[in-house]
Amino acid sequence: MTNEKASPPGVDTTRPSIARVYDYYLGGKDNFAVDRQAAQLALQVTPDGPEAARACRGFLRRAVRYLAEEAGIRQFLDVGSGLPSQGNVHEIAHQVDPDARVVYVDNDPMALAHGRVLLADARTTTVVGGDLRQPEDLLAHPDVQRLIDFDQPVGLLLLAILHHLHDDDQPAAVARRLVDALPSGSYLAISHFHDPGAAHPDISQRARAVEKVFNETLGTGRWRTHEEIAGFFQGLELLPPGLVPLADWRPGPAPESYQTITHHTILGGVARKP
Ligand SMILES: C[S@@+](CC[C@H](N)C(=O)[O-])C[C@H]1O[C@@H](n2cnc3c(N)ncnc32)[C@H](O)[C@@H]1O
Repeated sequence: MTNEKASPPGVDTTRPSIARVYDYYLGGKDNFAVDRQAAQLALQVTPDGPEAARACRGFLRRAVRYLAEEAGIRQFLDVGSGLPSQGNVHEIAHQVDPDARVVYVDNDPMALAHGRVLLADARTTTVVGGDLRQPEDLLAHPDVQRLIDFDQPVGLLLLAILHHLHDDDQPAAVARRLVDALPSGSYLAISHFHDPGAAHPDISQRARAVEKVFNETLGTGRWRTHEEIAGFFQGLELLPPGLVPLADWRPGPAPESYQTITHHTILGGVARKP
């Protein structure tokens, strides 16, 4: 585990961070005692945190591969990119085209510091400090402007981040503002915590309980309904199979399978801007 004293500047080791709790669930080393405590509290309510994080990474890999290989996307804007993990976006995109460009955006100082180390030599890839809630600033950032050609299709990745925006942050308006800046033929990929409601009352109840723990420890976390998540794709063409449990989205040759709770509490989808 990371030594608290040697943490990068700006990192608060007294409060848990979303990026570091996620890193802990993924078996990473970039987390502190306070993150592990928060993660354990959530695990007491629902034991599937690590599996859910792995499902998110699996979806990320398949979505980016699809966009690069099948949709011909050569530039990616990944907002809420997190700490480097296995199968980062630029690694997947560069398997298809070494010249593909990737801009990572996050507001977590640890994610930024570690991302920059990983990418120290990357000609095609950069890490930008920015906040999804300020889409204008994000779009105007010099590194975003330098690497992304807004006349060419872009793959906008909002993966496991919109559920960290409160309703007051107007996540649908934020997503729309970013999509509005992209040309037609661009894509939006989303993964998001899901509350299955009356279809699965036990799982819904568990989602509400873990939502409470997340908000008490991390200050965010919103398990939205299928309809609410689908609203983020408004005006776009959702690709088959639609907005579905992560494991069901274009499974690869070795399909991933998860316990029922994970299956129903995170959804993913990819849509094209007509
Ligand atoms: C759960 S991680 C997801 C990482 C990656 N996208 C994935 O799917 O594996 C969420 C990331 O979003 C970042 N984040 C949360 N709120 C943010 C905001 N308002 N602006 C930018 N990044 C944010 C966190 O710091 C964290 O790194």
